[in-house]
Amino acid sequence: MFDAQAFRDALGSFVTGVTIVTARDEEGQPFGLTANSFNSVSLDPPMVLWSLSLQSRTLPVFRDAETWAVHVLAADQQPMSDRFARPGSDKFAGLDGGDGPEGAPLIEGYAARFGCRARFEYEGGDHAIFLGEVIEFDRRDTEPLIYHGGRYGRVMRAPDGEDLEREGLAEKVGSELALTQRGTDLLAALEALAKR
Ligand SMILES: Cc1cc2nc3c(=O)[nH]c(=O)nc-3n(C[C@H](O)[C@H](O)[C@H](O)COP(=O)(O)O)c2cc1C
Repeated sequence: MFDAQAFRDALGSFVTGVTIVTARDEEGQPFGLTANSFNSVSLDPPMVLWSLSLQSRTLPVFRDAETWAVHVLAADQQPMSDRFARPGSDKFAGLDGGDGPEGAPLIEGYAARFGCRARFEYEGGDHAIFLGEVIEFDRRDTEPLIYHGGRYGRVMRAPDGEDLEREGLAEKVGSELALTQRGTDLLAALEALAKR
């Protein structure tokens, strides 16, 4: 058996988004938790998965739920992620998003939301893997929250040609992109810094 912390750290190299998965129990009480084990599975039929710790007190709720929903969090929803990552029954206090069309609680402010019909549950060691068929989804044009190495983060896109042109660092020469004098100066300054 290898070192558990080293294993966790290695897994943390994989960058993910952050989601909150929600469902209602038989009495209609809302449940939810923060999960970054979400992933896309199939396009046709549309299917997604996520995994839930067998220790979670919400396990029976998700086992029985006919529908559940995944909310992909926006960059400004870190407090919401923290709230749903703590055990407790008052996670939904003050939230009044109602339900999505599939019947699971809706948490406002998301970057994307997938309403699912529960399809399969698989064994995954100390987690249960839930596979759902997406029956409705919604997306907003907003930056997502990301998670890496046990910390929250923001997306930083690699600059493309258009960004460099906009900043005056490069210009089109024929069909090629060439550095302007400003771009050349900046590159030289960065190289000098890197050599220090
Ligand atoms: C960024 C992040 C991602 C998480 N991902 C998962 C996950 O995929 N599955 C899981 O079971 N717990 C995950 N957790 C931990 C749960 O959110 C946490 O244990 C929560 O208290 C579970 O809810 P419950 O106590 O109401 O069952 C994650 C926590 C954070 C902060």
